[in-house]
Amino acid sequence: MGVVYNKENKVFHLNAANTSYAFKIFGNGEPVHLYWGRKITKIKDCQNLFLTPTIQSPRPDQDNAEYSYNNLLREYPGYGDSDFRYPAYQVQTPYGDRICSLKYFKHEIQKGKNKLDGLPSLYSDNKENVNTLKIYLNDEVTRLKAVLSYSVFEKYDVITRSVKFENTGKDTLKLLSALSASVDFRTSDFDIVHLAGRWGNERDIERHALRRGTQSIESRRGASSHQHNPFFALASKDTTEYWGQVYAFNLIYSGNFLANIEVDQFLTTRAAMGINPFDFSWNLEPGESFQTPELVMVYSDMGFSKMSNTFHKLYRNCLCRSSYRNKIRPVLVNNWEATYFDFNEEKIMAIVKKGKDLGIEMFVLDDGWFGMRNDDKSSLGDWFVDKRKFKNGLSALSRKIKNEGMKFGLWFEPEMISPNSDLYKKNPNWCLHVPARHRSESRNQLILDLSRIEVCDYIIERMSDILSNCKIDYVKWDCNRFMSEIGSAKLPPERQMETAHRFVLGLYYIMDKITGKFDKILFEGCAGGGGRFDPGILHYMPQYWTSDNTDAISRLRIQYGTSMVYPISTMGAHVSAVPNHQTGRVTTLATRGNVAMNGVFGYELDITNFSSKETEIVKEQINRYKEIRKTVLFGDFYRLKSPFKSNEAAWMFMDKDKLILFHCSILREAIMPIKWIKLKGLNENTNYKLKNADEIYRSCNVIMEGRVNYLLEDTVFSGGQLMYAGLPVPSYNNSGDFQSYLWIFEKIFS
Ligand code: DGJ
Repeated sequence: MGVVYNKENKVFHLNAANTSYAFKIFGNGEPVHLYWGRKITKIKDCQNLFLTPTIQSPRPDQDNAEYSYNNLLREYPGYGDSDFRYPAYQVQTPYGDRICSLKYFKHEIQKGKNKLDGLPSLYSDNKENVNTLKIYLNDEVTRLKAVLSYSVFEKYDVITRSVKFENTGKDTLKLLSALSASVDFRTSDFDIVHLAGRWGNERDIERHALRRGTQSIESRRGASSHQHNPFFALASKDTTEYWGQVYAFNLIYSGNFLANIEVDQFLTTRAAMGINPFDFSWNLEPGESFQTPELVMVYSDMGFSKMSNTFHKLYRNCLCRSSYRNKIRPVLVNNWEATYFDFNEEKIMAIVKKGKDLGIEMFVLDDGWFGMRNDDKSSLGDWFVDKRKFKNGLSALSRKIKNEGMKFGLWFEPEMISPNSDLYKKNPNWCLHVPARHRSESRNQLILDLSRIEVCDYIIERMSDILSNCKIDYVKWDCNRFMSEIGSAKLPPERQMETAHRFVLGLYYIMDKITGKFDKILFEGCAGGGGRFDPGILHYMPQYWTSDNTDAISRLRIQYGTSMVYPISTMGAHVSAVPNHQTGRVTTLATRGNVAMNGVFGYELDITNFSSKETEIVKEQINRYKEIRKTVLFGDFYRLKSPFKSNEAAWMFMDKDKLILFHCSILREAIMPIKWIKLKGLNENTNYKLKNADEIYRSCNVIMEGRVNYLLEDTVFSGGQLMYAGLPVPSYNNSGDFQSYLWIFEKIFS
């Protein structure tokens, strides 16, 4: 199990519960890929696994003249030898050439897994289940060393890869590209699936056939971005939610990334991922090393559902390190869409008191509490309470809120600086900029140069001061712009192209210090909504503000798309006002509640304006969420109907004692056929009692003249019936658009 080495044939065989990955050290020391896919218990020499078409092209090894790098499947392909496909790394020598030929010289197999220097990564509490293989490669001419790390998370069916470069020579080398991994597939018979979007519309599922040539998904914005998530999957053409093969890749990194997929002349596919080589280089002085981010690789032989559940469990247990990762989360109310910048202590305390009455557990004070911030034109960087708004200070406010029996959360945007701030007046060169060039503002702000340790230390000092002196239970960590004029006043010219990555390292340094020191605080990441929703941030923060778009119907797609990779317990979801502030759409309070309950639940509207009817509905919603949140956040999750492909959305959550089903019909037509929804993943002989049949079916039964009576009288269903016959979705004419339901079942133990 774990990692097996066959000395005779120089074959490495990595085994997870249902997955195998194998490669071999070729005659000249080149690691050559053999296999990745469904488990094969015995892999021998596998000579046949790297049969390649013969072709006239440069030979890497005259003794093995039948092989050419141009068509061998390679584990970590270099540049400049004879492989014309996309390389995984490129190095410039002091002579200006870019030739480097890394070859095997030794390997190590170890139990467990090391942390990566300065970068977030997966970890394992239980070392038995994780084994790491390190392949040491060396280039004789430059004396560049590279260590390819493969960690096998056996019980999760996951393999991760990363690379560490070290300059063991005497000359400075320049890394022009250093991807985390590259995988060659023998076929191109795949669809590529990835998550694309924009502000307010993150993580749409894109799926299309691979074609010859290069296709890429990338970010050049300095953050992983709303536009492209650092995730992609290669799926067989016939793969569905519950059937077919999927090879999925997710990079644990929050900056510029590249996923490069190339289909070559022989219709083989090279898939590689890592830090984007665009606008990147890294000087390696003698003795220095460079660590790439970690790439998580998931194989599923049962479609996207299995892939997602693998990511969800892995990330909850081995990525998020917060003590909250497997704990239920408090129901919160956030004042952003309730007040924006227009609030004072009286207004805040009115929200707190009403929240308490409704059963809400935490109040979050969003943007506008510091400096002179009455709008978004000033004060970022001046992390001192605005005494015009809170005359007794933040510590007094936090005590008042706690005295009401509520938890208290606070918003920060630590990475930013407003040109209109005291911090900028004092340190105008603390932002990313290029001398003599215009500094482009976005939302009236610039980005702090986190490649500078004194800047990082200032943020740590300011945040620590507030977090230690006030009673704070939660922090929302925002970031509202991407990078422009990327340059650092501190770095020499030859290192300017290191700035964007050094920024990310600085960010991780700050997050590591703050979340490590204040480990009782619940942290939520945010970047103009879901603009940096990636595993890098989730390492430090167990939840994320999924999108600034709080419209329940837009959220169907956003939350469905996000669930492809990220656990439900990471997705912040709030009930907001109607007409919705982003779309102008009007939906019922019930539907807004039902959709938001499919994540980390909260409210983001002026709850002090609720009518008595709304107050009652919201109290019920909160009680309901408290009853189901453990199952929603940590249960197995199954997508049932895709809002990308149909006029409805449905999914379900299940743990050992509950089953929660969600369905939303989007647009209503006249006299619609009854929709049936078939559940997944149940034991067919287990019985489930529908707890809220009355609420769901009573009103439509009246209209349908008693035709769904049986659903009201006999509310116990077998798993078999729920999966194979399904349940009808209540349906009646004139019901309008956006009807949604949450079915709550309890498992009957016999
Ligand atoms: C963007 C966030 O996504 C919002 O939720 C809110 O916190 C604002 N920033 C505040 O400026």
